[in-house]
Amino acid sequence: MKGIVLAGGLGTRLYPLTRVTNKHLLPVFKEPMIYYPIRTLINAGIKDILIVTGGNNAGDFLRLLGNGSDFGLKHLNYTYQEGEGGIAAALGLAEHFADRGKIAVVLGDNIIEKNVLKAVEDFRKQERGAKIILKEVPDPQRFGVPAFEKDRVIRIDEKPAMPASSYAVIGIYMYDGGVFDVIKTLKPSHRGELEITDVNNHYIREGTLTWETLEGWWTDAGTFESLQYAGNMVAKTGANKK
Ligand code: G1P
Repeated sequence: MKGIVLAGGLGTRLYPLTRVTNKHLLPVFKEPMIYYPIRTLINAGIKDILIVTGGNNAGDFLRLLGNGSDFGLKHLNYTYQEGEGGIAAALGLAEHFADRGKIAVVLGDNIIEKNVLKAVEDFRKQERGAKIILKEVPDPQRFGVPAFEKDRVIRIDEKPAMPASSYAVIGIYMYDGGVFDVIKTLKPSHRGELEITDVNNHYIREGTLTWETLEGWWTDAGTFESLQYAGNMVAKTGANKK
């Protein structure tokens, strides 16, 4: 399975920190934010990785990461997102790289304490469809939130005012090679973006979405509060444990 780290966007929720740099280059304790999602993929056994970046600072990713030697890699792939089209639009740029195979996608601001090796192994065995990972959180309205019927996810609501459960859909997703055809059918949401939640809802309607829960802590790092929380948690317990 190939891996994709989505590290574009303008990071406007972190202005002025992101006025002259990309959110995913900001420090989280001792390392740049993007080191953590790259390690999430590597710890799941994925070594063929594409970084999707954009904006004015794309060159800084090359200078920082090069061919991935900090992670024991021999090669890293890069692509460039023009403008701001949302997570699903950024993923759409990975079609050529994925070459119709299965992929694991990590949002560049998502950090986990442990690993997703089991979920990735399970998805390797899954014939087709998608897999999402859920984590119980105190503030689900900030995220994609699953609605359940017994243990089946019947719908995901993006940032609902009235969450249907106390779970967040974390920013680690697995898809079969058909995901790029799904992305081509999407329409922009009210925030003008192609939403990854709409991709996941497509697989729910098709009956091929599976889910697992995550062990250990998870956080995004896209707001001042979550960025500080991420740094504190990494300092306290470490991240990306095997
Ligand atoms: C995105 C997704 C959301 C998901 C979250 C995880 O939100 O749209 O469904 O729960 O990432 O970090 P964003 O932070 O881009 O608004």
